[in-house]
Amino acid sequence: MAVAAYQKCINNACGAEFDVSESFFKCPKCGELLDIRYNWDKIEVPAKLSDFGRRWASRNNRLDFSGVWRFRELLNFCDDKYKVSIGEGQTILECNCAIAKHLGMQPDKLFLEYEGLNPSGSFKDNGMTAAFSHAVMVDAKSCACASTGNTSASVALYAHNCNIKCTVFIGEGRIAFGKLSQAMDYGAQTIQIAGDFDDCMKQVQDVCTELGLYLLNSLNPFRLEGQKTIMYRIIEQMGWQVPDWIVVPGGNLGNSSSFGKAFMELKQLGLIDRIPRLAIINATGADTLTELVNNRGLKWNNGDIDDSIINGFYDELTSSNFSPHTIASAIEISRPVNLKKCLRALDVCDGIVMAVPDEEIKDAKALIGKYGLGCEPASAATIAGLKHLLEDGTIGKSERVACVLTGHILKDPGLTVNYHKESEGQFSNPPVQAPNDLAEIIKLIKT
Ligand code: F0G
Repeated sequence: MAVAAYQKCINNACGAEFDVSESFFKCPKCGELLDIRYNWDKIEVPAKLSDFGRRWASRNNRLDFSGVWRFRELLNFCDDKYKVSIGEGQTILECNCAIAKHLGMQPDKLFLEYEGLNPSGSFKDNGMTAAFSHAVMVDAKSCACASTGNTSASVALYAHNCNIKCTVFIGEGRIAFGKLSQAMDYGAQTIQIAGDFDDCMKQVQDVCTELGLYLLNSLNPFRLEGQKTIMYRIIEQMGWQVPDWIVVPGGNLGNSSSFGKAFMELKQLGLIDRIPRLAIINATGADTLTELVNNRGLKWNNGDIDDSIINGFYDELTSSNFSPHTIASAIEISRPVNLKKCLRALDVCDGIVMAVPDEEIKDAKALIGKYGLGCEPASAATIAGLKHLLEDGTIGKSERVACVLTGHILKDPGLTVNYHKESEGQFSNPPVQAPNDLAEIIKLIKT
């Protein structure tokens, strides 16, 4: 397959271009984010999206089996021989009538894209398979990431599969145990920094620059190419139809950025005729995007972004010593690195942003657990947000909505157990104490 990709700075005033064989995590000329671009006329893209479905018939080909590389013409930045896969992207789009009814929607309109089924239990594997393929292509020997947990789990898993050394930076006490256990078990050198995710993110960039390590955070533009496939799979599982809305939690804003890019490209290629709307949900304790977009008027503005709005807000965060706090630790981020690409996604998808409080995230998580496949707290921000958007009429009750459940329920068992045992919320389901006596036990059973 001919490779016809290059890297391009998203800053209009710069627009520098680089070969895909180079490895940067920021434009070396101006420091802005880099995009992967394609010369589509040099790529044999199937005439219609449903053509990708034929690959289901050749699942003994590891690239056809992968739910990422099945769509390889749409992320054609490296030769097949470099492509890494450990079976990522075998995910399910569940049409969930029970939750739809609970939210007052038409029963067949709510879809849950369950990314917890990935090898490391979160959507991150979609991105890592792409970024590690690039890492192999550029012969990286050692890599690193900062993480609220899932990135580190996924990086550690792919790193040992590629025989690349791996260091992960996490904020002390800021990571759910399921995720921490993965990083350690998969053999990553785990550095706990006395700080939050934003501190880790800053340190890891300096460490990577200093030591020449390959960076795997979503600043890495190749990672975002893999995450586009989450959208392709939603379309695939809806019978090659586009939903009306995509709802996604917002943290470092890599997912939302890649979804916007996916739809922008599909439209440009004539593979879809309509772009769905995007709703990005923050937690109220980590709501930078919501604050900047809804209250301070930050916009994509054709790429001419008003930096003074961002810098002014970040100065306020610094001077008040702000550190984000939410029980949805995965999205406990106040300086999202993909902010600018996310603004582009909001523009492309006529998107909206909102924030939901922790109590609502916990209840939404238990609702998903009760009627769906279960998920971690950050993922449940989608349903908590959707509830508001249905109530205020932003989303119609008969519109088709796909919520991205980004991580597996077992990522954060501590929070789940407390919610139920301590009867913290609307759906708490605490265990019942029973004596070791048959008659007494039978009395307790509700049939
Ligand atoms: N949901 C989960 C389960 C996550 O782990 C993350 C991010 C997000 C949502 C937010 O996605 O960053 O693309 O907006 N986790 C990162 C990590 C930051 O380090 O694992 P985003």
